[in-house]
Amino acid sequence: MNIRPRINRWTAARRQLLFSDRMLDSLVQPHFVVEGEGIDDPIHGMPGIHQQSVDVLLKTIEEDAAHGLRAVMLFGVVHADAKDAEASEAHNAGSHLHRAITEIKAVHGDSIVVMTDVCLCTATDHGHCGLVHEGEVVNDASVDVLCKIAVSHALAGADYVCASDMMDGRVSAIRSSLEAAGASSTGLLSYSVKYASSFYGPFRHAAQSSPEFGDRATHQMDPRSGYEEAMLEANLDESEGADIIMVKPGLPYLDVVRKIADTVVRPVAVYNVSGEYAMVMNTRSDDDSHRAMVLEVLTAFKRAGASVIVTYHAREAARKKWIA
Ligand code: PBG
Repeated sequence: MNIRPRINRWTAARRQLLFSDRMLDSLVQPHFVVEGEGIDDPIHGMPGIHQQSVDVLLKTIEEDAAHGLRAVMLFGVVHADAKDAEASEAHNAGSHLHRAITEIKAVHGDSIVVMTDVCLCTATDHGHCGLVHEGEVVNDASVDVLCKIAVSHALAGADYVCASDMMDGRVSAIRSSLEAAGASSTGLLSYSVKYASSFYGPFRHAAQSSPEFGDRATHQMDPRSGYEEAMLEANLDESEGADIIMVKPGLPYLDVVRKIADTVVRPVAVYNVSGEYAMVMNTRSDDDSHRAMVLEVLTAFKRAGASVIVTYHAREAARKKWIA
């Protein structure tokens, strides 16, 4: 079965994230998870955002949850020694990321929505989002690895596996793999309309996922491409069984968010990416104008039609009670 509308209703936290009209309920906080213990390293260019080991991450999430933040997006940062050409560490069920998923769920159960980024780039030694054969990022063999990663996250307990690679056909392949693994209530968020953007710089530093050669232009979308291309990607992913359709980045593509929200039936998410966050944080002056700027950004996403907003601003906005 490809389409299971019940997935988005499966837990109270999923319904709250997708269908509440409160801003606080719509936010997803991204986290960068590293191996080790007691690690809490600030990320260059992203004030307030840290790489954390699982023990520190659990405390952070607990405090965020106490302030009403009930959704997280996890990125596993893979140590250089564990990277290889096949991204094996990304589907190693014993990895720190898998432990993070399981432990968050053990503490919070279904009162939190755990989303996980599914891609190869943090675990490949060349930094590409797929397997590389003769200098090219190949498609179908990469999809096989994406399926293994998605199933491993689902079995660890993720609510949504989030495909961020932009390979063709990966949504239906991942959906079938989840079914075959018995993970029929695990959701699939697709980074459907994802541009080869210049706004991912601070993230690639944080996730240690910059490509060693070339770029991501053969799979991520051309920033010059029009609405037709965006609609094609979103419609394909919806028909292949994506439960949430994401547009990324956010601010330079608000028009695309609106177009996609008007096009698809499934809920739309937007990713307010690292470079957008850095811009706002770097122009911060006094608290009041900073608060107003963050609220203006979040409101713009809602106006454009996003049900879900993945944003590094979530923690500050929740803890300072800027939103309810
Ligand atoms: C992995 C991935 C990226 C981001 C999210 N998932 C980087 C990329 O595509 O290079 C970027 C997020 C951000 O900039 O905040 N493919």
